[in-house]
Amino acid sequence: MRGLLLTSLAVLLLENSQATAFVSYGNVHPVSYHLGSGPGINTTSPYEGDIELSPSNPFLTLDYGTDRAGFPIFSAKSLSGATQIEAKYSEEYPAISLPQADGPWPFTVGLANAFRVETFELKEAGNVQSFFVQGGQRWQTLRLLTNTTITLSNIGFNSTAPLAGPSEVPVKLATSNSIYNRLYDLGAGSAHVSCIDAGNAPSTWEITPDGALIRGQTTAQSAKGADFSNYTLTFSTKIARGGTGWRVASGQNPFGAYFVLTSNEQSFLNTNRSLIQPSTLIFSYGTSLYDQENIISGPIHQYPLKAPIEDDSWYNISTAITPEAYVVSIDGDIIVSVPIAGAIELAANAGYSGTGSAFKGSFGFGPWQDQAAYFKDVVVTSNNGSTLYKNPMTSEDTLGEYSVAPLNTTLCLDGGKRDRLVWAGDFYHTVNVVASSTAQWKYILGTIEFLLQRQLPDAPYRGLVPIAPAMGSVPEFSRATGTFDGLLDYQDLFLAGIGDFYHYSGLTDEIKPYWTQIKTLVEARLAFIDPFSGLIAASPELGNRPAVSFLGPANGTAVTGIMAYALEMLTPLAHALGDTAAADLYSATSANLTQAINDKLWNPKLGVYSLSLTAPSNYSINGIAWAILSGAANSTRAASSIAKVEELKCGIGYRTQSSEACTEDYQLSPNTNGFLLNAIFKAQRDLGLTNLSVARTQLDDFWSAMVTQDQYYSGASWEYIHPDGSPGINRFTSLSHPWGAAPTYVLPEYVLGISATSAGYKTWKFTPLVEGLDLDHASGTVVTPYGDIEAGWKIKGNSVTVTTSIPHGTSATLIVPKGYSARYHGKTYHGGAIPLIGKKQVKVRMMKRN
Ligand SMILES: *[C@@H]1O[C@H](CO)[C@@H](O)[C@H](O)[C@H]1NC(C)=O
Ligand SMILES: *[C@@H]1O[C@H](CO)[C@@H](O)[C@H](O)[C@H]1NC(C)=O
Ligand SMILES: *[C@@H]1O[C@H](CO)[C@@H](O)[C@H](O)[C@H]1NC(C)=O
Ligand SMILES: *[C@@H]1O[C@H](CO)[C@@H](O)[C@H](O)[C@H]1NC(C)=O
Ligand SMILES: *[C@@H]1O[C@H](CO)[C@@H](O)[C@H](O)[C@H]1NC(C)=O
Ligand SMILES: *[C@@H]1O[C@H](CO)[C@@H](O)[C@H](O)[C@H]1NC(C)=O
Ligand SMILES: *[C@@H]1O[C@H](CO)[C@@H](O)[C@H](O)[C@H]1NC(C)=O
Ligand SMILES: *[C@@H]1O[C@H](CO)[C@@H](O)[C@H](O)[C@H]1NC(C)=O
Ligand SMILES: *[C@@H]1O[C@H](CO)[C@@H](O)[C@H](O)[C@H]1NC(C)=O
Ligand SMILES: *[C@@H]1O[C@H](CO)[C@@H](O)[C@H](O)[C@H]1NC(C)=O
Ligand SMILES: *[C@@H]1O[C@H](CO)[C@@H](O)[C@H](O)[C@H]1NC(C)=O
Ligand SMILES: *[C@@H]1O[C@H](CO)[C@@H](O)[C@H](O)[C@H]1NC(C)=O
Repeated sequence: MRGLLLTSLAVLLLENSQATAFVSYGNVHPVSYHLGSGPGINTTSPYEGDIELSPSNPFLTLDYGTDRAGFPIFSAKSLSGATQIEAKYSEEYPAISLPQADGPWPFTVGLANAFRVETFELKEAGNVQSFFVQGGQRWQTLRLLTNTTITLSNIGFNSTAPLAGPSEVPVKLATSNSIYNRLYDLGAGSAHVSCIDAGNAPSTWEITPDGALIRGQTTAQSAKGADFSNYTLTFSTKIARGGTGWRVASGQNPFGAYFVLTSNEQSFLNTNRSLIQPSTLIFSYGTSLYDQENIISGPIHQYPLKAPIEDDSWYNISTAITPEAYVVSIDGDIIVSVPIAGAIELAANAGYSGTGSAFKGSFGFGPWQDQAAYFKDVVVTSNNGSTLYKNPMTSEDTLGEYSVAPLNTTLCLDGGKRDRLVWAGDFYHTVNVVASSTAQWKYILGTIEFLLQRQLPDAPYRGLVPIAPAMGSVPEFSRATGTFDGLLDYQDLFLAGIGDFYHYSGLTDEIKPYWTQIKTLVEARLAFIDPFSGLIAASPELGNRPAVSFLGPANGTAVTGIMAYALEMLTPLAHALGDTAAADLYSATSANLTQAINDKLWNPKLGVYSLSLTAPSNYSINGIAWAILSGAANSTRAASSIAKVEELKCGIGYRTQSSEACTEDYQLSPNTNGFLLNAIFKAQRDLGLTNLSVARTQLDDFWSAMVTQDQYYSGASWEYIHPDGSPGINRFTSLSHPWGAAPTYVLPEYVLGISATSAGYKTWKFTPLVEGLDLDHASGTVVTPYGDIEAGWKIKGNSVTVTTSIPHGTSATLIVPKGYSARYHGKTYHGGAIPLIGKKQVKVRMMKRN
């Protein structure tokens, strides 16, 4: 039913034989709706039955309660005449009123709609499903554009994600603090929206006998043109609706010279007529025709054409990159020469995307919002006349070449609505979140497979994986489409995630097929250990140039700590696979790295781990967190470093690095704060840290912002937060980002207190956090391969009653908190560890001593 509305196009849809089957989760409908002349909220109006849009009530606002993902659907039961409806989607409520809602998403294709606004045109009653997935939104509006009346039913999404609420996932947690319970639930919310089944991200292009049919979306670039420069791109295009679009001299991410050619027929009533004029060539250098927060493009140039451009006619278009201009011809006649000088300047500041040159980079295709066009017979010629590239665009292989192949691996993205990339570093939090909520290992194993399929076999990036491959990319073009050294520690966060996956799951056989590749990646990273400092710095294979990392600078605490942690977590896996040599190497290297952190990076004057050798008086929560998580910090150093975090206070939370200024648009990071939250509780449990005030600020003031503001609430964890508690990249912020969900895994492990002491909870311990957070009870379910652990603790007066099940095949130890005593099987314990005897259900009463 995809593309039903374009009746003239629908007949051309072909079954894609290679596509993986859709995994159906059924339809999801709004919770409540508001009908009126503009957007609104009406919580006392539950969504049910038919809704009539008419000129007196043209505007419907729909609230789904939490983030949902899928193909937008509705049924038109009756209509008084040809009707146009504008739909908008947004994660937060304030953005639903903006012209582009919380979008668009020009940064990557993401196998979803690049736009948060789409227009439907109906001539008769029937069921409608959008061609495009919308990856995450709580809010939707439907606005009647025509002077007609239409009765709608079955409004919602054909869901691409599980619909289970947080209370229905297998791992559970409840405490006496209702805010903490809601924070815990955010992990399941973000895992549901961000982890995707093979089959549920179909290609956004369609290959037809007439070439590629591409509806309005971010351009996708050919992997084959990555190294081309100074060329002429030629292709034939037929506009199916409104316009066509292409790009030259672009990075693999769309950043370069962007052209949109509009047709004479602009029939949608909501088209922005100052941007989209009929029969006009529109040019901008950058990502898009709209700026979106930190994704900025150059100025827009409009070139009205003398002859009208018609829908449903083929045109031959060429675009030549010359030293002075981008020269565009239609059917052999030069229509526009766009001076290149402005582009040269913009290219130099491209940042992550782009090639840095206005003359160099690939070509791509993608019409603008609500447009659609066919593309065929693409030819690229060098400026000496030789043919560099030819593609009739009629083969399914084209999809992989342009990184828009249908998803055939089950995996987790960084976020639901954007970037929809498989960011290798985000994987670390995602593993922990999945383990502590949905316990759906197929998504984690799939992500591991997806990233390792794209590992490079030879220099200079030998052994590394791309840090953020697109879902639609294919392994064959990994080198051309991937970025390998942009954020080098994403490799280590990926390895740490693999180690954590094994720690929680104990799934030795499932990880075994990847072991050789995992070792190759470790080997590549060990080359970054500096022989003089003993810290993670640079690799000879990459010319010893200082590596850019996400967590902090080279020769720094954070990058060295994460590597030490990853190696420590991979050691038990190496043992389980019988690879003693690797196990010994990893544990010895990890110990040397933590030793080097302590020897070289402790600043005794400030009482904190330094940012790096070259910034000894600066520090960061990443450095502090990974010094603790890696085991480098002892109790004195951990307590002193954590106390230092108070100086990083910025609005409701803590900024990441001491050298950063706290401004009102600073982006507080739930990602980096998540590492720290985990580290503080680890220090509490393992090193006897008693002061939890930083962690309390994090939970009570910072994370709580995600659940206490209904206008932004998504039921999932956020990407960034401003110091005032609003989303941190304004409307661009992903409000379903697993990297922001650390409380989901920290609370069960340290507050309820169930943690694995060997892989898969074969042995585990129970350390109830009876003091420090003012809780009087906690209970929950932890999923293990041996069965569920159902545990709880409850304070009554001076006693704490602890109950737990002990799955067959596991053995458990109860840690009696300091200052408490217990009697168990005839023995009295004053603090210390009680081996729980292999009964299925255990109950222990602990008394507070005076
Ligand atoms: C909200 O919905 C209720 C029930 O449908 C309705 O009676 C009321 O008029 C609505 N309020 C607004 C402000 O639309
Ligand atoms: C809308 O339709 C009604 C009924 O057909 C008609 O009376 C009215 O003039 C139309 N208004 C506009 C602005 O076309
Ligand atoms: C949901 O969309 C998928 C993909 O287009 C389609 O295969 C499936 O039939 C749709 N489900 C329903 C109930 O329409
Ligand atoms: C329409 O496009 C113009 C030109 O790009 C832009 O300035 C304006 O904000 C847009 N208007 C809306 C409502 O999107
Ligand atoms: C492409 O053209 C530009 C401008 O003339 C020139 O500076 C550059 O060296 C050329 N690149 C190649 C690879 O020939
Ligand atoms: C477009 O190009 C094709 C292939 O080169 C050619 O056969 C055709 O005549 C051209 N059409 C026009 C209108 O120039
Ligand atoms: C023409 O240019 C291409 C690439 O730009 C190059 O590979 C090829 O050798 C050149 N051919 C001649 C005859 O110079
Ligand atoms: C998935 O798609 C890729 C690229 O299109 C292909 O190489 C691979 O064989 C496919 N895998 C499966 C399991 O279909
Ligand atoms: C790391 O520190 C060592 C020892 O001071 C130094 O030789 C090396 O150049 C540093 N590497 C980087 C990338 O800063
Ligand atoms: C760890 O450091 C010691 C002492 O410098 C050194 O002898 C040993 O080779 C190192 N081990 C590894 C695995 O790097
Ligand atoms: C932590 O390590 C430092 C440096 O070795 C040492 O001075 C301090 O006493 C240690 N603290 C504890 C509690 O062992
Ligand atoms: C250290 O922090 C100060 C401000 O706190 C800053 O001015 C300085 O540039 C930082 N140094 C380094 C090397 O990052």
